[in-house]
Amino acid sequence: MLNLPLLVGTNRQDRRSIFAARWLLEQMRVRGDIETRLFDVADFALPQDDYGQGIKDSFPEWRDAIVSADGLVIVTPEYNHGYPGTLKAVLDLLLREYVHKAVAFVGVSAGPWGGTRVIEAMVPMVRELGLAVTFSDLNFPFVQRTFDATGKLLDPAFEKRAKDFLDELVWMAQVLKWGRENVASKFHPTGNDKG
Ligand SMILES: Cc1cc2nc3c(=O)[nH]c(=O)nc-3n(C[C@H](O)[C@H](O)[C@H](O)COP(=O)(O)O)c2cc1C
Repeated sequence: MLNLPLLVGTNRQDRRSIFAARWLLEQMRVRGDIETRLFDVADFALPQDDYGQGIKDSFPEWRDAIVSADGLVIVTPEYNHGYPGTLKAVLDLLLREYVHKAVAFVGVSAGPWGGTRVIEAMVPMVRELGLAVTFSDLNFPFVQRTFDATGKLLDPAFEKRAKDFLDELVWMAQVLKWGRENVASKFHPTGNDKG
């Protein structure tokens, strides 16, 4: 089993990204090879007067989840071709904990590009966190007509897309897990880092 938490990246009221996140979480759970849980940036009581790794111990569930994770799924909306500041603030709580783990992106947009631009914007940022990006994204363009008002997916074509997306993430996460456990680096000096 691979441990792959999912982070939904906006705290906007009436956000549609939560529909994509909940639907994908279910796809992850039914596979049988992924252990997951949903983290929601809206649940992080981020302070106005501090930032970054110095406050990570105020978010022990997130810290411990990433320590034991093999990778991460980030569901992000596209806001003016970029990512929400709240998502960046949550990611910036940690650093060493991400190193040599896989990350896969789900983009959500009202427009036709399905978050392609926000994902491109995130790639150099997560590289600095030490995460290794998969090359198959899952894009939800025109999200307002992809789910109904209750969050029910209206387009069955996403089932195959989600499978391909998750297959690639599982491969990457598995290979990196093997690497962390068997190949020494300055981040895993014993070559036996189970984290
Ligand atoms: C501040 C802001 C900026 C946005 N910028 C874009 C954009 O650049 N491209 C786009 O396709 N949709 C844009 N949208 C629409 C979102 O993609 C849309 O709300 C979609 O449902 C995903 O975001 P949500 O999870 O907040 O609902 C923007 C929405 C907000 C609130």
